[in-house]
Amino acid sequence: MTRRALITGATAGLGLEFARQFAGEGHDLLLVARRESRLVEVADALRRDHAIDVAVCTGDLADRETPERIERFVAEAGLPIDYLVNNAGSAGPHLLEPTPWPDQARFLELMMMSVAQMCHRFIPPMRERGFGRVINVSSFAGRIARPAGANYGPAKAYLVALSEELALELGGSGVHVSAFCPGFVHTDFHETGGLMDMKRGLPAWIWYDAETVVKEAIEAVERGHPIQVSGRIYRWLDPFAQSVWVRALIKRFAPGR
Ligand SMILES: NC(=O)c1ccc[n+]([C@@H]2O[C@H](COP(=O)([O-])OP(=O)(O)OC[C@H]3O[C@@H](n4cnc5c(N)ncnc54)[C@H](OP(=O)(O)O)[C@@H]3O)[C@@H](O)[C@H]2O)c1
Repeated sequence: MTRRALITGATAGLGLEFARQFAGEGHDLLLVARRESRLVEVADALRRDHAIDVAVCTGDLADRETPERIERFVAEAGLPIDYLVNNAGSAGPHLLEPTPWPDQARFLELMMMSVAQMCHRFIPPMRERGFGRVINVSSFAGRIARPAGANYGPAKAYLVALSEELALELGGSGVHVSAFCPGFVHTDFHETGGLMDMKRGLPAWIWYDAETVVKEAIEAVERGHPIQVSGRIYRWLDPFAQSVWVRALIKRFAPGR
């Protein structure tokens, strides 16, 4: 049965890989991101390679009005959404840096509020139809507090809490919600965020490729896992990350202790 997947942040990295894998399964797509020419390029290639319908809607998800505009686009074009992947995201400013508050607020809007708003707008119709799959792209950074800027990790932790609670709320409705928590993945994320020095300093074995982790995310939401920590290494580390002893260690070695 052909279904349609709405994927945010589909011009690069994980979002592009979600688009490729859903297209490979024969699903139609609605792709969202800011760079229009890149979106059109991606859509053309997917139509050509997979003979599916691909709609595009440009939008900046740090703007509060964007989810409503996407919902209107979907209603006017008559495109029911069966899969929703809230993937768009970036590295952001540290909370205690002198970055002006409007820029801080736009980051939080992109990383948390837009995801909540997309769930608010797109899950009720899925529940009415008795089928839906929602993947909220969080991060392993959302699984443990670190002295690392007080913005990115907490925003991703919100997505874990939101997804877990939505999954409980929607039990038996035919709608599955999953927080997808990858560790380090090769995408444009670190270059765009000015984090290439950090990337070069990390060992190769803690990095995954987008194809592997996206496959896991799609399988996990299908199985109804509310939280999917992705990659064998990170799944092994996760129980330690949740332990009070590791939290105590991080506190012990945090700067200034
Ligand atoms: N790579 C990793 O190691 C890693 C690990 C854990 C979690 N994640 C998460 O995975 C998600 C995808 O990141 P990625 O690694 O694939 O990074 P990426 O390669 O840089 O791709 C980011 C995507 O998000 C879009 N985007 C960024 N800001 C946007 C905005 N304001 N409005 C709309 N779209 C926006 C970008 O498109 P445009 O520039 O065209 O708008 C692009 O398509 C993010 O939520 C990230 O936090 C990444």
